[in-house]
Amino acid sequence: MTIAEHPSAADESRAVAASTPFLDQANRLSAVPNPALRGNDSVPGDDGRPVVGHTLDFVRDARALVHGMAAEHGPNFRLRMFGHPVFVVGHPDAVRTVLMDAEKNFSSRLGWQHAIGELFARGLMLRDFEEHRVHRKIMQIAFRADAMRGYVDMMNPLIERGLDGWSGRDELRFYDAIKQLTLDLGAAVFVGTELGAEADRINEAFVDSVQASIAIVKREVPLLSYRRGMQGRRLLERFFAERIPERREGDGRDMFSEFCHATTEDGDSFDDQQIVDHMIFLLMAAHDTTTSSLTSMAWALAQYPEWQERLRREMDAVEGRYLSWSDRDALEQTSWVFKEALRLFPPVPFIGRRAVRDCELGGVQIPANSAINVCSLVTHYLGEFWTRPFDFDPERFSRERREDKRHSHSWYAFGGGAHTCLGMHFADLQVKAFLLQFLRRFRIELPPGYQLRMRPIPIPKPSDGLPLRLHAI
Ligand code: HEM
Repeated sequence: MTIAEHPSAADESRAVAASTPFLDQANRLSAVPNPALRGNDSVPGDDGRPVVGHTLDFVRDARALVHGMAAEHGPNFRLRMFGHPVFVVGHPDAVRTVLMDAEKNFSSRLGWQHAIGELFARGLMLRDFEEHRVHRKIMQIAFRADAMRGYVDMMNPLIERGLDGWSGRDELRFYDAIKQLTLDLGAAVFVGTELGAEADRINEAFVDSVQASIAIVKREVPLLSYRRGMQGRRLLERFFAERIPERREGDGRDMFSEFCHATTEDGDSFDDQQIVDHMIFLLMAAHDTTTSSLTSMAWALAQYPEWQERLRREMDAVEGRYLSWSDRDALEQTSWVFKEALRLFPPVPFIGRRAVRDCELGGVQIPANSAINVCSLVTHYLGEFWTRPFDFDPERFSRERREDKRHSHSWYAFGGGAHTCLGMHFADLQVKAFLLQFLRRFRIELPPGYQLRMRPIPIPKPSDGLPLRLHAI
């Protein structure tokens, strides 16, 4: 039985709609957040420049913008982007209120609608409340332990093959190289196929769709990036739809095959369109976030060679040339470096939500249908919770210091509450599986005098691709 036909899910959705009457109205208004925050002096912040508000500052340097606003107005503030006022939430108390959402006040679907609603339509983050819960439960089947064990075994030889291709090169643009490698890994683990001749077109389709999410004009007009993004989506739709019948028949262990077979104990499963939507969303959620965090880590390890050596020594304890599922908790210091890289350069720097009713948030009254952005770029740098927040200092995550435990929501690179990243453990495994082989093979260095320039949105990326020198060990 697919979930559209499942009577209990439909009944429960109606019950949620009845308990949140504003949701119906908000669904109809979904393209237009409430403008009432604009010029609202009871909410700290300002409206930015005439007409454009803060949009250009946001696109140019989002980190500088939110740090400047937080310094002036405090960690929760309003600003105006893409034509709408937005309440930016950075204080961990308010972050917790939004992400845990005990009163079901905040819609993820409406929060993400403007940026990715069409490009990644009906993905898991674009579903709310009971409907989201049912879809997430089906998807979780693809992340159970024995499936994860299989994924890491699939990844290891591909990582090795990718690194073989890097050998003999003195310098490479790490971002481009790792993006290609994670695409190859994604093709095997998520899609269960070598993309072969189609690889370039599929890669381009991703890049275009993700880039289009920050397009200022979200219309399909020739030459605009949004049109290229939507064309990319349509290509991916065809790609997956054509392959569903064979996957339903087969017994593949890749995630696409898992989605085609997943059925919960309540009998819920996905229909074809839902599989296509979830696959496109999943690839977007997995690919650039992992690429970005590995790039931040590579920069940090090259910039701070003492940490490179510490991780190499820690990795000596792993027997064999590959990381296995049972080694996943062994690399403690590697975990600190991963968390620290995610703190400084969170791959999802803004988490979108929309208030579905009037509510209090961070001590101010927020009108129904207001746009909310939970912003780790603010929280992860708050001096109240982090010692010398601009320093790269992985030991802050050690058992002795535990800075991340000063508040339940001072670090949330993987989000929190009902929408917590479903791929969090997968990402951790992939990062460690890669680093184990990478650091055993190469000592890495930056060009002399190198200065990192990271563009924080839509997903952090070094503007020069991060030139990295490789020395074979
Ligand atoms: C370092 C890598 C990653 C980071 C930092 C990251 C971060 C996040 C964040 C912050 C959210 C929550 C968004 C929200 O609340 O609106 C999220 C959701 C999600 N992520 Fe990740 N992610 C990463 C990797 C992955 C990977 C590898 C996968 C899949 C294998 C994945 C799949 C998902 C999915 C399906 C959701 C939606 C969850 C839901 O709405 O219930 N992510 N991710």
